[in-house]
Amino acid sequence: MTEKKRYLVTSALPYANGPLHIGHLGGAYLSADIFVRFLRLTGKEVVYICGSDEHGAAITIRAKKEGTTPQAIVDKYHASIKSTFEKIGMSFDIYHRTSAPIHHETSQDFFRTLYKNGEFLEKTSEQYYDTKAEQFLADRYITGTCPKCGHTDAYGDQCEKCGSTLSPTELINPRSTLSGETPELRETTHWYLQLDKYEEWLREWIENGKLNGQQLHDPNDWKNHVLGQCKSWLDGGLQPRSMTRDLDWGIDVPSDIPNSEGKKLYVWLDAPIGYISATKEWAANNGKDWKQYWQDEESALVHFIGKDNIVFHCLIFPAILKSHGDYVLPINVPANQFLNLEGKKLSTSKNWAVWVHEYVEEFEGRIDELRYNLIKNMPEQRDSEFTWKGFQDSTNNELVNNFANFVNRVVVLTNKYYDGKVPDFNPDQIIIDSNSQTDTSFHDSELLALHDQLQDLGEQIRSYEFRAALTTLLGISARGNQLLQFNEPWKAIKTQPETVKVVLNISLQIVAALSVASRPFLPFTSDKLRGLLNLPPIEDKGELTDLLSNLSEGNPILAAGHTIGDPIHLFTKIEDSVIDAQVEKLNATAAAVGAANGTPYEPIKETITFDDFSKMDIRTGVVLEAEKVKKTKKLLKLKIDIGAEQRTVVSGIAEYYDPEKIIGQEVLLLANLAPRKLRGIESQGMILMAENEKGELAFVQPKEAFGGGFTVK
Ligand code: 2FM
Ligand code: ZN
Repeated sequence: MTEKKRYLVTSALPYANGPLHIGHLGGAYLSADIFVRFLRLTGKEVVYICGSDEHGAAITIRAKKEGTTPQAIVDKYHASIKSTFEKIGMSFDIYHRTSAPIHHETSQDFFRTLYKNGEFLEKTSEQYYDTKAEQFLADRYITGTCPKCGHTDAYGDQCEKCGSTLSPTELINPRSTLSGETPELRETTHWYLQLDKYEEWLREWIENGKLNGQQLHDPNDWKNHVLGQCKSWLDGGLQPRSMTRDLDWGIDVPSDIPNSEGKKLYVWLDAPIGYISATKEWAANNGKDWKQYWQDEESALVHFIGKDNIVFHCLIFPAILKSHGDYVLPINVPANQFLNLEGKKLSTSKNWAVWVHEYVEEFEGRIDELRYNLIKNMPEQRDSEFTWKGFQDSTNNELVNNFANFVNRVVVLTNKYYDGKVPDFNPDQIIIDSNSQTDTSFHDSELLALHDQLQDLGEQIRSYEFRAALTTLLGISARGNQLLQFNEPWKAIKTQPETVKVVLNISLQIVAALSVASRPFLPFTSDKLRGLLNLPPIEDKGELTDLLSNLSEGNPILAAGHTIGDPIHLFTKIEDSVIDAQVEKLNATAAAVGAANGTPYEPIKETITFDDFSKMDIRTGVVLEAEKVKKTKKLLKLKIDIGAEQRTVVSGIAEYYDPEKIIGQEVLLLANLAPRKLRGIESQGMILMAENEKGELAFVQPKEAFGGGFTVK
């Protein structure tokens, strides 16, 4: 990482249109929080900015759903999100909101400057207008059939089924979601940012980290998937993009601009400017100069976001900043991918989510356990997954058995043997074990090893490898555990009391180091450790840097004779019943939402192993004979030829298929399913069926014509 004097770190401004779920935390927030907390521990000047994104269709759509006004929606969710962030330990310097007057002013100033600089193209085009609702329709207010995949509920800007980016006029049979009517095309004029004009310098900046020949950052520091996405946008050719909308919710286009009446700023113009207005507000409240952070080459701007925001932060916002002039460009945009939940995409609308405010209430005092698991599974390079079982395992096996167990043993033994005082030791007479490299430098070499582990941890955080850094942190307590396990002070206290002094002295130094190094990841635990060790609270003034220089000189962190406190429970085990209840709740709420929407949700069954799966013997076959089973509505009796033999199978498909029409049908047969009798007929296997894209029951059959795979017909 290119080191700078000052850092301005941002996390994507969440839309104030709903509560936070764990996908948010694992995406743009915990990563940034680790990064800034670490920078503060190294003594850097850092300001960490976030706030609510209160404009755009995300808000008005939610208001319509809840039958209230956009203002009521943003007020409600801004308050809820802000308070949840506080409870989960996010260390923003400011949590602002885009409804703030300073933000409206700043955004309008930006628009005005770009306008005056001649950066906009004023263009009249035809856009959909809802005559009943009497308004132009934002992309999200139009649905229709996707021209790429035929999905009937694609949005005006995107098809969620096939992932294609669309424009509203591409949709087949467009409908307004406001009135249900077919919208008509009407002319409207907007201001377009000419992204095509910036393509060349954007490419040079993305691919080589250079602007006007000056090296601004090393592109090798950027994540591959971020660069990949940017390059594919650039390769596709950038198009002018409208920076205004015909809406009644948002920031007005400044009234001194001709023809501005009724026009609002595009939410993706105003939202990232929110980082600037929040910095202004913070600076005004703290006697600082916001320009130092945004307009000084010694400042590094880092945007933490989710992968769906890459184009806005890596291409569009940089283009806006540069067109305005004076501003620094981000030194990195370490976007994360997506976090899934129990094998499926997190979904607000399907209520397939773990809501953070609910977690905070139900797991009182267990914030760091959630932070830990989400960092451990952070989707840094690819999509990843949260499972309740995984959460239980990481808590019980790593935080309880490794981290807390180490700290507890050290504190208990120190209290027991030395009355809670850090033991002094005589470096000349140490013999720890005949096999180990035990000499007078043992204590020093352990401190150096600790130093190196902390150094690695720092390097990993600087490279945005937070999962690896967390592993390193747990490696420190694991090493401490090994030290205890190997030397068994509880036994050695009788025979080698001098050795025990060294071992516990080192162990206490490790606990003290953990009280600092755990802070970026587990801030509540760090506070507890400070209290436990009777150390002053961390003030985020370079404590880690001081620690490293002390360790490299062989100086202990805790002086001999320093008194520590009584043992406390840092982490405790989570019982199966707690986890089962959460899984049940997840399934039940998703099922309730599914039922209300007419798409009942089937809970995922218990996990099976690959071995379970490979026990299934699936053969291809052809239907030779088919007839209805007498006195039943649903059952067909089939004769299936699977090559080596013929099987009789009773299948519940009579309501969907005429027997005579499926003679010759290719099928897949589960051939080793235990035979069972249905209406007196022994069924010797089961044919595999699936739902096709129209939602009908269909045969799964080999896709021979295309050289392998299966198709559903
Ligand atoms: O995707 C989102 O949730 C947006 N509200 C993120 C905005 S990030 C920034 F530009 F403000
Ligand atoms: Zn599609």
